[in-house]
Amino acid sequence: MTENTKEIIKSTAPLLKEKKDEITETMYKILFEKYPETKILFKDASDDQPKKLANAIYAYANNIDNLGNLQKGLETMVKAHVKTNIKPEHYPMVQDALLSSIKKTLGEVCTKDVENAWSSAYEFLANILINKEKLAYSKA
Ligand code: HEM
Repeated sequence: MTENTKEIIKSTAPLLKEKKDEITETMYKILFEKYPETKILFKDASDDQPKKLANAIYAYANNIDNLGNLQKGLETMVKAHVKTNIKPEHYPMVQDALLSSIKKTLGEVCTKDVENAWSSAYEFLANILINKEKLAYSKA
């Protein structure tokens, strides 16, 4: 992730915090409409799952310079993902839905630069999770 990307993430973090519930709600709507095959993965999900995702996204934006702070949270996500059999191929679906939702929710604040920064920040986080999950699956 470049410094420029990090700067853009940090500068949009407060706005994202303000709109995080709206962003995740729209994200799930888009995800389930566009990729209905993902619905089954959330069959046992609790009602506060969207809140957990929203908080994770905000925590990530807020700790982009100190990703070590997220270690505990990441382990919890890996556990939840392995339990529900989340695979690498699911990540681009969430990326698409999340980016569409950010664009829709932020409106004109979401310039091409902001969109690209969030896209690469998502990919960065997704790769960390995918690798940790690969390890966890191989141990299971
Ligand atoms: C960078 C991307 C992602 C982040 C930041 C993220 C974040 C989270 C968080 C914070 C939790 C809750 C952990 C807990 O407290 O129990 C969770 C659980 C979960 N996530 Fe993700 N996730 C990501 C990608 C995905 C993808 C790609 C899928 C599948 C389409 C997915 C499906 C799920 C499911 C099914 C659960 C468990 C819900 C339940 O049964 O309670 N996540 N994720």
